[in-house]
Amino acid sequence: MLITFEGIDGAGKSTQVKKLRKALTDAGRDVLTLREPGGTDVAEKIRDILLESKNDITPVGELLLFSASRAELVQRVVVPALKKNTVVIVDRFYDSTTAYQGYGRGLDGGMLRAINDIATFGLKPDFTFFLDLSPEDALIRKFSEKSIPLAFEDGELDRMEQSGLDFYRRVRNGYLELARLEKERFILLDASESAERLHDRIRKTLGEAGLA
Ligand code: TYD
Repeated sequence: MLITFEGIDGAGKSTQVKKLRKALTDAGRDVLTLREPGGTDVAEKIRDILLESKNDITPVGELLLFSASRAELVQRVVVPALKKNTVVIVDRFYDSTTAYQGYGRGLDGGMLRAINDIATFGLKPDFTFFLDLSPEDALIRKFSEKSIPLAFEDGELDRMEQSGLDFYRRVRNGYLELARLEKERFILLDASESAERLHDRIRKTLGEAGLA
């Protein structure tokens, strides 16, 4: 079983990943949690290149780097774990590429589908929980986390986070479009709800599928 979490930066994915890991582990399941980009030695090096704020990367270069990191993770870690019947939970997967590099950066959808297919070896999540939050609310959360009242200081934002509010609006709309197009695996959640309530909703969905 492959479960993925999606949403713009600051939507609360990592909190939900941790809560779900605990719930499934307590229920006696073998669980592996991962986050993209990264997860192998090489993929972590690619992550550093992608997020380093000083790096000037073209949109296609960015797409291929995220995809290279994904190919490493899928082939070396995800597929072997799934073969052992482990529940694999990934914080971001190829829907991030469609939302950020496709809707956000404006790269061609057909090209993205082809590259996503190559990087995942055709692997699709059983469930994708999309934590939907407006970019404005995400920013407010980030400010309050960092306790910086009015502005981010130099070096505070990674390379992706420097892309601006309009970029994040396009990314969010992209996710909403994906949720409409792939209803059978996308579960749209309102990320402004409390972490406990969101966790309950996620458990309920998985429970109905006989998992949690
Ligand atoms: P990360 O610090 O992991 O952010 P978050 O906690 O929001 O998941 O950084 C990953 C960044 O890379 C994030 O801004 C989303 C972006 N990203 C893409 O643009 N395309 C992708 O395919 C993936 C996996 C991530």
